[in-house]
Amino acid sequence: MFASNVVAAPRITSRKLEADRDRVDALIAGMTIQEKAGQLNLLGDPFRFRPMNVNPLDGQGDPARVTRMIREGLVGNLFNGVGAEAGRRIQTIAVEESRLGIPLLFAADIIHGLKTVFPVPLAEAAAFDADLARRTARAAAVEGAASGIHQTYAPMVDVARDQRWGRGVEGAGEDVWLNEVLAVARVRGFQGEKGLADRDALLATPKHFAAYSAAIAGMDYNTTDMSEATLRGTFLPPFRAAFGAGALSVMTAFNDLNGVPASGNPYLLTEILREEWGFTGFVVSDYTAEQELIAHGFAADGRDAARIALLAGMDMSMVSGLFLEHIPDLVETGDVPLARVDQAVRRVLMTKAALGLFDDPYRGCDPERERRVVGSREHRDLAREAGVKSIVLLKNEGGLLPLKPSGQKIALIGPFGADVDNVFGPWTIWGDETRRISLEAGFRAAMDDEADLAVVMGSDVETALPGGIAAAVLAASQADVVVLAIGESARMSGEAQSRTEIDIPAPQRALAEAVSATGKPVVVLLRNGRAMELSGPIKDAGAIVVTWFLGGEMGHAVADIVFGLVSPSGRLPVSFPHRSGQQPYSYDHKITGRPANNALASQEYVARYRETTNTALYPFGHGLTYGAVTYGAVTPAAATLAWDGEVEVSVDITNAGDHAVEETVQLYIRDRVADLTQPGRRLRDFRKVELAAGQTRAVTFTLRRERLEYVGADGRPKVQPGAFDIWLTSSAQAGDLATLNLTPS
Ligand code: NOJ
Repeated sequence: MFASNVVAAPRITSRKLEADRDRVDALIAGMTIQEKAGQLNLLGDPFRFRPMNVNPLDGQGDPARVTRMIREGLVGNLFNGVGAEAGRRIQTIAVEESRLGIPLLFAADIIHGLKTVFPVPLAEAAAFDADLARRTARAAAVEGAASGIHQTYAPMVDVARDQRWGRGVEGAGEDVWLNEVLAVARVRGFQGEKGLADRDALLATPKHFAAYSAAIAGMDYNTTDMSEATLRGTFLPPFRAAFGAGALSVMTAFNDLNGVPASGNPYLLTEILREEWGFTGFVVSDYTAEQELIAHGFAADGRDAARIALLAGMDMSMVSGLFLEHIPDLVETGDVPLARVDQAVRRVLMTKAALGLFDDPYRGCDPERERRVVGSREHRDLAREAGVKSIVLLKNEGGLLPLKPSGQKIALIGPFGADVDNVFGPWTIWGDETRRISLEAGFRAAMDDEADLAVVMGSDVETALPGGIAAAVLAASQADVVVLAIGESARMSGEAQSRTEIDIPAPQRALAEAVSATGKPVVVLLRNGRAMELSGPIKDAGAIVVTWFLGGEMGHAVADIVFGLVSPSGRLPVSFPHRSGQQPYSYDHKITGRPANNALASQEYVARYRETTNTALYPFGHGLTYGAVTYGAVTPAAATLAWDGEVEVSVDITNAGDHAVEETVQLYIRDRVADLTQPGRRLRDFRKVELAAGQTRAVTFTLRRERLEYVGADGRPKVQPGAFDIWLTSSAQAGDLATLNLTPS
């Protein structure tokens, strides 16, 4: 069913594969059990480590100790140290001073750029643009590889349906299809088209396998519990798509799934991953995830945890040291067969071979090239382009936006006006701190007369500022328009940053209240790493723009939209609910036996809340432009789709406005009757279409049976003949439908 997103893996010729196999087998035959355990041991890089406020295990403290371990073959992999020159020095220890000379694998969390910081992945998902995602991943890979890195712990492909969960910011949002498309694009971008041995390729590591984002109540690390159909229909497809695109490593998840921790789960790590999908790369644990089997109450001690993880199918242990410590004894006692250890070592060494490390252990690691490509002008321009395309215009009453670059007095109010600390967003360890364009700097560069801009903070992100509101009200009353830059700090989303309410912090709501009371028109620029609940004057503002965390060029990208250099084209990859309490919420929820559709909305006993219907305030897929796009009727070329046939479905879209725009036409389906209840709508395709002012274009999609399939109770794709509703429209809550009948075979 996911065939359309699955592309051929980069080609490795069988002759190269055979030669690698021979080389790896010969190595394994000559390795001690300690050296084997060493290849399965991954430590934080203590040589080039940048502290990140995380865990004391990061960096593993002592360079002298790790140097000894490399020499003795007790560590084969290091992560989160970056830099070509030092990389060469460290690699030399492994290659020239260890008995077998096996090169180290250098990994890093290159999530949305290295020195050049691109929009956070959730923001970039709003561009609904696979090629853009590929290009930013490519640029990140070029910077990473030139800095001596071989593997990135990205993309995160966890489908995030609960906005309380903080890590949605690292992925592609709530929809399965969009996650699949962007997983493929990002893997292709990181790994490149020339094969993994290319000096610019980074091994991609889809994570966190699996169902990590389904944490109950949105609390990070929490338990997950779900049906086979939900696991396979919602959470696994992006992983499968990523492997189809050639990803050769995968990271396990922290959570337990139906009672079995993912990091000790043979069903996930062996049955599905290897036996069903034929994955040939290696499985790396998340940070101490195998050690956490003890806290889960699934392993008695470190030895037991290593045994369970290894037998389940984990190949490499991240920072805990448990594999190194216990493998020799586990093999000695027969608790883990030597063949299983050899298999894991073979997977790791074959990946090192695929990366070309046996031919050139210093591959890509070139200080001169590093100076040239890392943070290049070309990459910065791409960051701005990606930023512009990621911005979503939710609302624009009376054409309040775009603002004029001259002749309009603007009060830029809020904690994010002059701020540079929150432009990158979470997960940037090596971003260029000298290149963080604030909104103020972006506005000043775009405006004809800087005297037209007043900048007042008014409030901090989570605390009030003495006199802040009074200063903001004064600035607002002297301006023609207020631009309110409010929302979440970078620290409020990301790992372990779950929230109970997804609202704007109270001091900023008070600021918005006071500023709106001046009666001046208000444009809200929302900074956020998740969908948010909007209320009061924020919800009622004349214009609302979702600006996420757009990376180093943020201020310029926002100014390009605010001042109308470019029409907004982003679409929400997550639904903005009416209320926080609707979480978990995704547009493709089931409609229940008591649907709260329009006809029934006045009734009490339907699926709704006392305070709100269970719809979104701004649904998935929503996003306005500076044009005025209207949709005609959805027109299938035939009323029936033959079992093995295809039908074209078209819609005319017209831009009645006077700005050129880019419209994202979305194809949704609903299976009217199936043997498992189905969502009210499901995205099955989309296309971006340029429309000049006044232009009409016909947009056509070709539908085949596979697009109508769902995952059955047994986990397999299926579909039955019958009626399907089809929408070609601008969001998950917009548009008229047409009906198509799938005939029996
Ligand atoms: C923990 C995070 O869950 C994972 O995404 C990340 O790659 C590792 N730490 C390594 O930093």
